[in-house]
Amino acid sequence: MKPYVIAVTGASAQPFAEKTLELLLSKDKEVNLILSKGAYQVWLSEMKIKIPIDPLQQESFWRERLNINTGKLKCYKWNDNSANIASGSYKTTGMVIIPASMGTIGRIASGVSLDLIERVADVHLKESKPLILVPRETPLNLIHLRNLTSLAEAGAKVVPPMPAWYSEPKSLQDIVDFFVVRLFDQFDEDLRSINRWKAT
Ligand SMILES: Cc1cc2nc3c(=O)[nH]c(=O)nc-3n(C[C@H](O)[C@H](O)[C@H](O)COP(=O)(O)O)c2cc1C
Repeated sequence: MKPYVIAVTGASAQPFAEKTLELLLSKDKEVNLILSKGAYQVWLSEMKIKIPIDPLQQESFWRERLNINTGKLKCYKWNDNSANIASGSYKTTGMVIIPASMGTIGRIASGVSLDLIERVADVHLKESKPLILVPRETPLNLIHLRNLTSLAEAGAKVVPPMPAWYSEPKSLQDIVDFFVVRLFDQFDEDLRSINRWKAT
């Protein structure tokens, strides 16, 4: 199976990104991970955690934090635009931006590929490869809505992290777990077997 690209931007929902990484690596998947500059800031202010920027140090950080040795993980710096994943000839299963800030959404929607996340998203759209966006902002203004519409028209899938009560969540973590498993239904990927979430 080809690798996933997981991009994490500076929006207030970092546990969704962490759960995504945990589930994919637990399932022995290959993950190329990019954190935007804003994502490091949100981890620091909301989670009180300073994530190493150096890619090798960051790989060790995630391995230790998640306590997972399976799967393949490669981290990229946000401005490493010469990385292999920035090219259309690099084959992936798809890209997920989780959470996706309105800043990143706006730049992708307007074709501005300033950093690696925007460039890789642009490549996924031009190559008609799956691009899944998990936007996190509320309320959404008209500009946000128009940008999301443009991206949906260009082929992206917009999957907002909306909680469901039919899964009978007991905690915020239940909501996160449920959402991430449902998110990967988009790829026909069943992550449930290693998840604590129970189907009803
Ligand atoms: C603690 C914190 C929480 C934030 N939450 C959000 C959010 O939920 N959604 C959003 O669009 N921007 C949010 N922002 C603002 C973005 O981080 C900011 O616009 C940043 O420039 C986005 O950069 P990026 O898209 O490259 O990650 C937040 C910022 C901070 C510091």
